[in-house]
Amino acid sequence: MQNFQYYNPVNLVFGKGQTEKLATLIPQNAKVLMVYGGGSIFKNGVHQQVADALKDHNVTEFGGVEPNPRFETLMKAVQVVKDNNIDFVLAVGGGSVIDGVKFISAAANYEGDAAEILRKRIRIEENALPFGTVLTLPATGSEMNSGSVVTIEATHEKLPFGGPALFPQFSICDPSVVASLPTRQVQNGVIDAYTHVLEQYLTYPHDALLQDRIAEGILQTLIEIGPSVAENPADYKLAANFMWSCTMALNGLIQQGVPSDWATHMIGHELTALYEIDHARTLAIIAPNLYRVMFETKKEKLAQYGQRVWGITANTVEEAATLAIEKTVQFFHTMGMDTKLSNYTEEYQKTADFIVNRFQERGWEALGERQNITPEKVRAIVELSY
Ligand code: NZQ
Ligand code: ZN
Repeated sequence: MQNFQYYNPVNLVFGKGQTEKLATLIPQNAKVLMVYGGGSIFKNGVHQQVADALKDHNVTEFGGVEPNPRFETLMKAVQVVKDNNIDFVLAVGGGSVIDGVKFISAAANYEGDAAEILRKRIRIEENALPFGTVLTLPATGSEMNSGSVVTIEATHEKLPFGGPALFPQFSICDPSVVASLPTRQVQNGVIDAYTHVLEQYLTYPHDALLQDRIAEGILQTLIEIGPSVAENPADYKLAANFMWSCTMALNGLIQQGVPSDWATHMIGHELTALYEIDHARTLAIIAPNLYRVMFETKKEKLAQYGQRVWGITANTVEEAATLAIEKTVQFFHTMGMDTKLSNYTEEYQKTADFIVNRFQERGWEALGERQNITPEKVRAIVELSY
């Protein structure tokens, strides 16, 4: 097992009716900026719950953070922070709102051009505004990690950044919010979390036995509940297991001491930047083809995944690994994912050139757990996804 230092200071408050705890989780004398998205929180009662809990706090509101949050919009919120001497930010929403608040928190005290945080991927170690979250969409794990992804609208660049100062102080995770989610978003959440586990698990055999078993447990749970939670989002038992699985998939726990890949995400982000395809759907397009192109270096772990998660019995590693990829694609289809890029855009043929050029401009010449996903491999993966 590789050496590791696991730091995760998030106070995770999980369960029905927990939003009322906001009253004590946010300091009484704080000047709070409550940030939300396009308005779903007004329809499902979450805005009212937050307003009730914070009735004795000084709260300013900022709405309109987009899915795949935009730098340009977030900078308007940064101005509101400065104009009103805000000293605590509350994200009420899904991954986009939470990621947006991480950017606001980092940019509020950043000296210099805040776009640098994204373009130079500045690691935020200090000086961030404190913030908390009320999660409304299980998917990203952003409620319990210190990463964020923000899009610069002007240049269509979707860029990750983060750092130890960007953990939420607390996150309220009430699974009741799942009831109001559109089917498409539940499907997205299951597949985003599933792929987060695969990014940290489908690498090469290593000595971290427990991490593998936890990863497999999250995958099995998502397979068990995914189709039914999409059909019955109001079922609390399903919603609670869905929400906790998503958090556990990307709160750092299964990443400790093991190699990880993340190339599916890096390529997928470009598909969203180019065509505004939902994040999870970009992963469903890319992941299977990445496993096909990188088959030789991933086959042992693919075979283990096939045997332990899907119960595949096969005579050879190659056969088990191939069947594991097929099972994964079938699961993506069961969860409503379309796995071909050409079904999302007519302009698909220019995609590989565009992504390869962009990665080369950024110096991203060696992705993946073995740093062997070269521009040629990226091209092959994207072309196979057409
Ligand atoms: O904006 P509102 O009106 O709130 O509607 C949202 C939005 O349209 C809606 N929604 C959220 N909760 C709802 C609801 N509708 C009804 N009832 C509810 N309870 O759902 C839509 C999608 O929301 P969004 O926040 O965009 O989805 P998600 O949570 O999937 O977040 C995706 C973003 O997170 C990034 C992605 O790249 C993408 O930008 N990621 C962040 C990560 C991280 N910070 O660790 C890791 C991930 O890999 C991912 O890259
Ligand atoms: Zn993701």
